[in-house]
Amino acid sequence: MVPRSKGMAGKGLFITLEGGEGAGKSTQARLLAEALSAEGHKVLLTREPGGTPGAEEIRNLLLFGKVDLSWRAEILMHMAARSDHLDNAILPALERGEIVVCDRFHDSTLAYQGYGIGQGASEVLAFLNGARKLVDFEPDLTLMLELPRTQALARLKARGGQTDRYEAQAEAFHERVLAGFDAIASADPARVKRVDAGQTPEAVSAALLQAVHESLTVQGV
Ligand code: TMP
Repeated sequence: MVPRSKGMAGKGLFITLEGGEGAGKSTQARLLAEALSAEGHKVLLTREPGGTPGAEEIRNLLLFGKVDLSWRAEILMHMAARSDHLDNAILPALERGEIVVCDRFHDSTLAYQGYGIGQGASEVLAFLNGARKLVDFEPDLTLMLELPRTQALARLKARGGQTDRYEAQAEAFHERVLAGFDAIASADPARVKRVDAGQTPEAVSAALLQAVHESLTVQGV
């Protein structure tokens, strides 16, 4: 397989949104895509796991399947969904010069499967790192929506709705996921911009749009 690189993906901009449950990521991804479209950009708004018919099928299995997978199989299923999403949606959009706004990507696998399920064990992190190299593509900009678990829980309770496999995990799992995201943001400050998701939705939207404008200038899109 030819490794994918930004150089093969044309002139678009690849933006991901990351964070724990209940931080308002999906709403903010939609608002960001709408704001960028209103500015005249062509935008693909998408999500993971999912974003293509094949990857949405895998999402269903991962989030609502009746059986648990081994940790290795679970990581590979996320990577399989991501491969289909990249090949059939993200890379073609970037080649057309579009801005891709993607709700979750590789960082979620590291936070949820690496730190949440795998509890940061070196064997799990090494396996995950190897799998990530097979699906070798990174965002230009990652917007990390940060919200303490207590506030996120209050929002999730108010929202209600169907609970998936990850949402149903114990509190300690979610704390490990948040610690994982924190470590990811600290390790790569050039790519990952932290945003306080406890602000008003309008203030969060403004902060995200500003970060994207800065990135557009740097990338010359
Ligand atoms: P969502 O609730 O943001 O739509 O995401 C679906 C769930 O999938 C969420 O609980 C995080 C989880 N997830 C992983 O565990 N690993 C991954 O690689 C991705 C992309 C999502």
